[in-house]
Amino acid sequence: MKANCMAGTGIAFGSVELNNFITVASGPLTDAASKIEAAEKAGAGAASLKLTFVDVPFQSEMRSYSMPGSVILSPTNRRLDLKKAIEITRQIRRITGMKLFANYSALGSRLDEWKLLSEKLDEAGADLLEPNFCCPNLDTSEVTSTTKHDHGGASIGENPEVCAEIVRAIREVSGLPIVPKIITADRRTLIEVARTVEDCGAAGIHVVGTPTSGLPPVAENGRPEIPLLDGAPQGSTNGPLCKYTSYLYAAILARSISIPIMISGGLESWKDCVDVISWGATAPSICSAFMWYGYEILDSINEGIQDFMDRNGFASIADFRGRSLRYFTTPDRVRLRRGVAVVDDEACINCGRCLRPAHCEAVSRADDRVAIDAELCIGCGVCGSLCPVGAISYREEEEH
Ligand SMILES: Cc1cc2nc3c(=O)[nH]c(=O)nc-3n(C[C@H](O)[C@H](O)[C@H](O)COP(=O)(O)O)c2cc1C
Ligand code: SF4
Ligand code: SF4
Repeated sequence: MKANCMAGTGIAFGSVELNNFITVASGPLTDAASKIEAAEKAGAGAASLKLTFVDVPFQSEMRSYSMPGSVILSPTNRRLDLKKAIEITRQIRRITGMKLFANYSALGSRLDEWKLLSEKLDEAGADLLEPNFCCPNLDTSEVTSTTKHDHGGASIGENPEVCAEIVRAIREVSGLPIVPKIITADRRTLIEVARTVEDCGAAGIHVVGTPTSGLPPVAENGRPEIPLLDGAPQGSTNGPLCKYTSYLYAAILARSISIPIMISGGLESWKDCVDVISWGATAPSICSAFMWYGYEILDSINEGIQDFMDRNGFASIADFRGRSLRYFTTPDRVRLRRGVAVVDDEACINCGRCLRPAHCEAVSRADDRVAIDAELCIGCGVCGSLCPVGAISYREEEEH
């Protein structure tokens, strides 16, 4: 099933409607018209063109530490200059009806460049503007420097006033919906920036649930494990590593703003998409998973979401968006339910994995049977996650 056949999964950013809420995030999947055409054929609701500058500050190519199912750490990437981005955008307009975000950046102080990029990419045929306040790979300051520098990208997303100036400047030259994209490791900055851009008229916000950047592991000889690269600048870290922060940011933003919330970071299955929406996101966006597994996974994501909606009687994503927010609370307000782990003797294959947790004094084995001492079990939930056959469950007990 193609995404655009699915009922109830369309969304709108301002006046622009996407017929599927799953979009292709800016990156190596979006630096050519042919690639965006492929995304459209697969049924994605929109794509965001590769990061564009008036003049690319330093040109590069993608290098990465790529660990499917875990992380893509990518410190260097290709960039588009404005001329190339205009050319690709026009080409896209000729060959596809795909909704297109323009993704671009400049120094925070260069409002003239922000305006130029917005105006020209609007004229070329972009449908939405995604000013990039998020790229962590533009930071050229010494790694030990504590001075705040203006590098564009992520350094802008740390500063609500600068974000506001840029969004206002863009609105002077373009009427397209603006969906700023930010990364931050700080919850308060996230809220401040989100509220600020909403107040300035943004049609939505795109947040990446990443810890911003990292370093790769090292090989036996001490060299960083990034093929074909000498040197290891800190690099953006994406992929499943980010997923749980994506959920958190969805929940924080859903509580803080009213505009649509696009989230990327570690989403790769229908369940991930349903979960991030349950926490309050409006639109999941995906990069790494399409880079690893191709667009085939979009079919199973769409089918999974549709089955989930049918099973639960939801006609649209609005019916389940934010349904888990009522559980989002502070640690002092949760109620611990008293309970213990129990083993199903019939199902247990006696593999011994549940005996391993070093913090646990409750599990023992005697006569080839595993037993859990209810007096010693604190109900932490670890053993059940280790059992390969699902023989451990948790039984709630009456309070005495
Ligand atoms: C190799 C690579 C290049 C990227 N380039 C861009 C970019 O040009 N502009 C941008 O806004 N985000 C860029 N991103 C970030 C993605 O758009 C996305 O927000 C992020 O990877 C989180 O989603 P994921 O976990 O599904 O990959 C890039 C990510 C990767 C892995
Ligand atoms: S729930 Fe935690 S404490 Fe209880 S048996 Fe399992 S690992 Fe041990
Ligand atoms: S991990 Fe599961 S199957 Fe293995 S011994 Fe424990 S209860 Fe039995």
